[in-house]
Amino acid sequence: MLSEENSVDRSSLLTTTEWEKPPGGGEILAGFLAPHPPHLVYAENPPQNRPKSQGGWEMLRWGYHRCREKIRALKPDVILVHSPHWQTVVGHHFLSVPKLSGLSVDPIFPHLFQYQFEMTVDVALAQACAEEAIAEGLVVQKMTNPRFRVDYGTIVSLHMLNPDWDIPVLGISAHNSPYYFSHDDAQDQMIKLGQATRRAIERTGRRAVLAASNTLSHLHFDREPALPEDMSQEHIYSLGQYQWDMKILHLLQQGCWDEFQAVLPEFIEATAAEAKAGSLMWMLSAMDFPPMKAQIHAYGPVIGTGNAVMEWDLQSCRAQKAAGGKGV
Ligand SMILES: [Fe+2]
Repeated sequence: MLSEENSVDRSSLLTTTEWEKPPGGGEILAGFLAPHPPHLVYAENPPQNRPKSQGGWEMLRWGYHRCREKIRALKPDVILVHSPHWQTVVGHHFLSVPKLSGLSVDPIFPHLFQYQFEMTVDVALAQACAEEAIAEGLVVQKMTNPRFRVDYGTIVSLHMLNPDWDIPVLGISAHNSPYYFSHDDAQDQMIKLGQATRRAIERTGRRAVLAASNTLSHLHFDREPALPEDMSQEHIYSLGQYQWDMKILHLLQQGCWDEFQAVLPEFIEATAAEAKAGSLMWMLSAMDFPPMKAQIHAYGPVIGTGNAVMEWDLQSCRAQKAAGGKGV
């Protein structure tokens, strides 16, 4: 168990009465649920990825394409991503090297993902996030190794949201707390991390987009077709996984945060959901559990796992509220 001072009063999450544009200038423009199966980048055939495909998983990719258009229109200063595949044992880490490049290979699917990455990191925002996270009582590190190999979860989500890589990024690690502590303690850490991230964005004046690099149900087949992109072989792992995904999608879309938090442990247990790593809770917390309806751009299986591409358009919601409406 974590100390009492590090726990979060969950009831306070659900009683937010103020949800206005912060005075400091910085704000979160939108958040995206941005799953990271390497198959999606493989199917896109970008020049950075060595393996080449005949396509595949179009429904998910088309969903991502709509998100790209939205991000281009928003013109954010930075895209932040929290990835389950950058696992850190001691605390929450932030990428803190101005320019990172190298080769990233998916250890499970090396025949699909060998990606030559090159990214600009918003190190000033990383510093602010680290300071705010420390103020929350979290253990924090800045990742300053210039030869660091960025994980495929970070890269896939960022590539699918912005394949031009012309917007600075900030990668955040998944502290392994879900595997050491109880569910509540682990997710509480992500809630605090989200609150710290929001304050850092506000005080640095950043116009930010967030990405939670999470698949939903995560049981998957241990054999793949001779042609990995053979879509005649692709389907969700089981009816039970599908039904769980639909339930969670409904709660996320409708903003039913009480019920979402109540069923999250059971969802993780039943489907090995990657939400366990905290990316989704981090983003929802950073967005202050927004009282709005989210947009589901796509849902589809990848080697049996359930994946959804979703958007919370906070900027439009704020604009509608300011105009006297009820938001989206
Ligand atoms: Fe994953």
